[in-house]
Amino acid sequence: MAKAGGPFKTPPSGTLPLLGANSGSDVREGVTVPMPSKRSHIPAFEVMRITDEIARRRAGGHDVVSLCAGEPSARPVPGTLKPAGYTGPLGTMPLREAIAGHYRDWYDLEVDPAAVAVTTGSSGAFQLVFLAAFDPGDRVALASPGYPAYRNILTALGVQVVEIPTGPETRYQPTRELLDAAVEQHGSLAGLIIASPANPTGTMLQRGELARLAAWCRRGGVRLISDEIYHGITFPAPGSPDPRGVSVLSAEPEAIVINSFSKYWGMTGWRLGWAILPPDLLAPMEALASNFALSPPAPAQELALTAFTPETYAERDGIVANFARARELILAAAPELQWGTAAPSDGAFYYYSELGPQLERFSNSVDYARALLEQANVAIVPGVDFDPVAGTRAVRLSYAAGESAVVEALERIIRFQNAG
Ligand SMILES: Cc1ncc(COP(=O)(O)O)c(C=O)c1O
Repeated sequence: MAKAGGPFKTPPSGTLPLLGANSGSDVREGVTVPMPSKRSHIPAFEVMRITDEIARRRAGGHDVVSLCAGEPSARPVPGTLKPAGYTGPLGTMPLREAIAGHYRDWYDLEVDPAAVAVTTGSSGAFQLVFLAAFDPGDRVALASPGYPAYRNILTALGVQVVEIPTGPETRYQPTRELLDAAVEQHGSLAGLIIASPANPTGTMLQRGELARLAAWCRRGGVRLISDEIYHGITFPAPGSPDPRGVSVLSAEPEAIVINSFSKYWGMTGWRLGWAILPPDLLAPMEALASNFALSPPAPAQELALTAFTPETYAERDGIVANFARARELILAAAPELQWGTAAPSDGAFYYYSELGPQLERFSNSVDYARALLEQANVAIVPGVDFDPVAGTRAVRLSYAAGESAVVEALERIIRFQNAG
């Protein structure tokens, strides 16, 4: 019998209570439209706005002397420490323009650079966007299994999370029918979060499915937030019309995109992401960002300007090709693994599978993962992180470590299971 403790938590019992009613919408011409949150009605931190203005003026050739920002001037100091100044609260204009250009290159979409907010990772974007869009007591739906921080950040902000249980029948993605059922059960929604490719399943929404969800949200005045952090880490069939993933903006210009330099560009530690916002959320976002974060990290923003060159795309696509080979190895080993139903793994670098027959020997995914780590030194994630209920039967493998790590892990997993 495996021991308790270590890095694995025991599966929780029960789900989060749902309280109160949603707010933050208005009726215009008979149609419900979402409104910015009440709590985002705060004054912006002026200094950070002025920082933007100084940068604009300097770019225009003006010799500006700043007695403005509360930071030491950027003088070199001995050693390796290099001072770097704040930027505007929503990031530098050259980076916001470069991000807008990325939407032209990859998706053939026109994005206004002023609608781009650069953030401290997509995690920073979630916090600010949720604050800008929702008030405490609002209800926001998301798919389960799903990335745990959505539900945790929302809960911390007093927003009620409505989990939509999904499975292989809908490729682990929400549908209009599932959303209708959620509204019937819990009441109207203020927001819906989608992810494609999703974590932990890797499944993707196709263009038609995305359009149907967007239409559903528009009809109900529900803010649609799309986490596109795994775009580009995709394994499309030859001739696929949307090889990088479909941006929600092609279906709904008023939707909110969240993305990051962390995954496709592998820049997790640089803590840089972005949001693309509808016009009504720009001022709330600027007010919140200028107070909560002052500015996204300046050196990371400078480095990120090199992310959108043909050379960088080619280099990163080479890394994705390695993920693709690692994925093939796992798919080929699936019969020998003798697990249960697995998600299709269209993108990201995840393989999410039920443990099936393995659960005859282990009482749940936590016990399985714990024993695998202790006895075979292979670390995988039990599904309870992503789905507190059905995740007790599933695990997630990340093949971001590449081919050789996957080969070694598969051998060990099969040996571990055969020895039991
Ligand atoms: C689906 C998803 N969204 C967002 C994030 C957060 O990434 P970051 O804050 O580094 O941009 C992660 C990280 O694993 C993720 O899996």
